[in-house]
Amino acid sequence: METFYVTTPIYYVNGSPHIGHAYTTIVADAMARYHRMRGDEVFFMTGTDEHGLKIQREAEKLQKTSQALADENSKKFSDIFDRLELTHDRFIRTTEDDHKRVVTRIFELMKERGDIYLDTYEGWYAAADEAFYTDEEIADGKSIETGADVEWVAEASYFFKLSAYQEPLLKWYRENPECVRPSSRYNEVVSFVEGGLQDLSISRTTFDWGIPVPNDPEHVIYVWVDALTNYLTGAGAFGEDDAKWEKFWPCDLHVLGKDILRFHAVYWPAFLLSAQLPLPRQLFIHGWWLVEGEKMSKRAGNWLDPHAMLDEFPLDALRYYLLREIPFGNDGNFARTRLIERHNAELADNFGNLVNRMTNMVQRFAEGKTPVASITPEDKGLIDEAQGAWQEIQASLEQCEIHRALELILSFSTSVNQYIQRNQPWKLAKDAAQTERLHSVLYHALEGIRWIALLLSAFVPDASAKVLDALGIKQEDRTLAGLSWGGLPSGQAVGTPPVLFAKLELPEEEEAKKEPKKKSEQKKKKPKDEPETPGKIGFGDFQKLEMRVGLVVSAERIEGADKLLKLAVDVGEQSPRTVVAGISKAYAPEDLVGNRYAVVTNLKPAKIFGIKSEAMMLAADTPEGGLELGCFSDAVAPGTRIG
Ligand code: ME8
Ligand code: MG
Repeated sequence: METFYVTTPIYYVNGSPHIGHAYTTIVADAMARYHRMRGDEVFFMTGTDEHGLKIQREAEKLQKTSQALADENSKKFSDIFDRLELTHDRFIRTTEDDHKRVVTRIFELMKERGDIYLDTYEGWYAAADEAFYTDEEIADGKSIETGADVEWVAEASYFFKLSAYQEPLLKWYRENPECVRPSSRYNEVVSFVEGGLQDLSISRTTFDWGIPVPNDPEHVIYVWVDALTNYLTGAGAFGEDDAKWEKFWPCDLHVLGKDILRFHAVYWPAFLLSAQLPLPRQLFIHGWWLVEGEKMSKRAGNWLDPHAMLDEFPLDALRYYLLREIPFGNDGNFARTRLIERHNAELADNFGNLVNRMTNMVQRFAEGKTPVASITPEDKGLIDEAQGAWQEIQASLEQCEIHRALELILSFSTSVNQYIQRNQPWKLAKDAAQTERLHSVLYHALEGIRWIALLLSAFVPDASAKVLDALGIKQEDRTLAGLSWGGLPSGQAVGTPPVLFAKLELPEEEEAKKEPKKKSEQKKKKPKDEPETPGKIGFGDFQKLEMRVGLVVSAERIEGADKLLKLAVDVGEQSPRTVVAGISKAYAPEDLVGNRYAVVTNLKPAKIFGIKSEAMMLAADTPEGGLELGCFSDAVAPGTRIG
């Protein structure tokens, strides 16, 4: 069995978590879940970085002990990670005893190696970054790179011979071209190290909130030596847990933001080389989440609180957006409108609708059970596509390209939708001679859904579990190990899942912001010279009404509403519209499916019985008090404009 050790940075406890911290941890969680789905033995660790000047100062400001501040804020991180349903195996705190032992030990090892010496440090220090800067790296009393205030420091200090590791580091980069991803970050690190390395001050004497230097307790160990070593503590280094160490070191994947690249890609491997320990396999460096183009920070006051996000959006929607939106390593702007658009279009309309349609059809056309299938060349096309996507998804995730994996999964969902459109099971159902083919088509569509749900499990876990529940997939079979087409057993009861992705709506203020723009656009389009005849409308007014031919792909009763039916109507768009129509006295759901009707497609959506209706069926009353829908034959394609 393969093992997989994945970490996040450990977060400073001078403040509360924001969406950026949640993001890194969700990325690591997704990778951990993906590897568990593959059958790997996974160890996933996150936690808090609690020592150092920055924390001590914040505690003094708040008139608390450093430990009290650390306890309080560390809990905020572990609480939100619990609410985010993250699956870390350990939440590490650097104030824990095993960690103190491991840090002391690595310091001793580096010293025994002859890489640590005592001298005096004189130079600039930024407590906000817990970093030393040279004259060239500062301007106007601030770090040029981070904007953090710097102060002059002059004190006795232990130094680490970082300069001795320039060549060994360059050798490591050369021999492991994938050790830092994306490659732009790799190049950045290599050219930094090629520029030469200075020895690094690794102890401080002017404050005491830290782990003491062995045999010289006047000094506390530099917080970055302390912090980075958490990755060893988690793996049970130095006899803390030998079985774990054997399994999980070297670490497979450190996930981190670009702010702390140098610490992880230069200092950390140098410390490990000095201590003669194997180096991590890969560092994945992601970009920033920005709010209106600005980096989130306390100073800027543009903090996005993950609790507020979860009050507003379902967890799956938030995860999907964060993981899908930013391409590998880039920065991205956090925008609620994009979150909602992606959720509604990609999850609800594409995948959610597919599951809905198919589980309903199985009830109607296959007695609610997974049917038996044969494979025609048409089906083979879909299967090949699935297998091709799976290969590409694996390759993308090797590179931590989660956004790409999600794109591939959803694009396969589109393919399954198209397969259904091409094969029209609702038509096959009308011909008794076609039952075998009908069952085959249903089976392949369901198998496609099983694949998608398994593939989405690491990223959109709640909805995926509901789909797998509905398909009756046993817990032990919810795995990507040996994923193959045909894994869905025949003759198994299929349920209808609860709503997977309830459509999200824009907050009212955002709608209001959008309205005026639309109106002025419409005005421009209106023909000017339209005669005003009472009781008549001009052609321009008529044109405003958009009517199309709509093919009913599924129909069901709405519990508790005896006049209403809920329809999915294909009006020529990527996915069908949901339509709530008051026609159940005149039509049974099965009478409608497969037929084409006149539909008004540009009415403002209305909520009917709690369901958003996105179009209107055109109907005429009959003298007996019934009604009849305006109907078209198969000669016209769904989506054709009427007028
Ligand atoms: O640097 N967008 O802790 P830290 C995306 N304790 N990710 C963001 C982000 C944003 N706007 N803001 C923060 C430290 N992050 C040290 C780490 S590790 C041995 C010690 C994430 O609390 C991102 O992962 O400042 C970044 O690298 C990390 O939080 C920094 O967290
Ligand atoms: Mg920081």
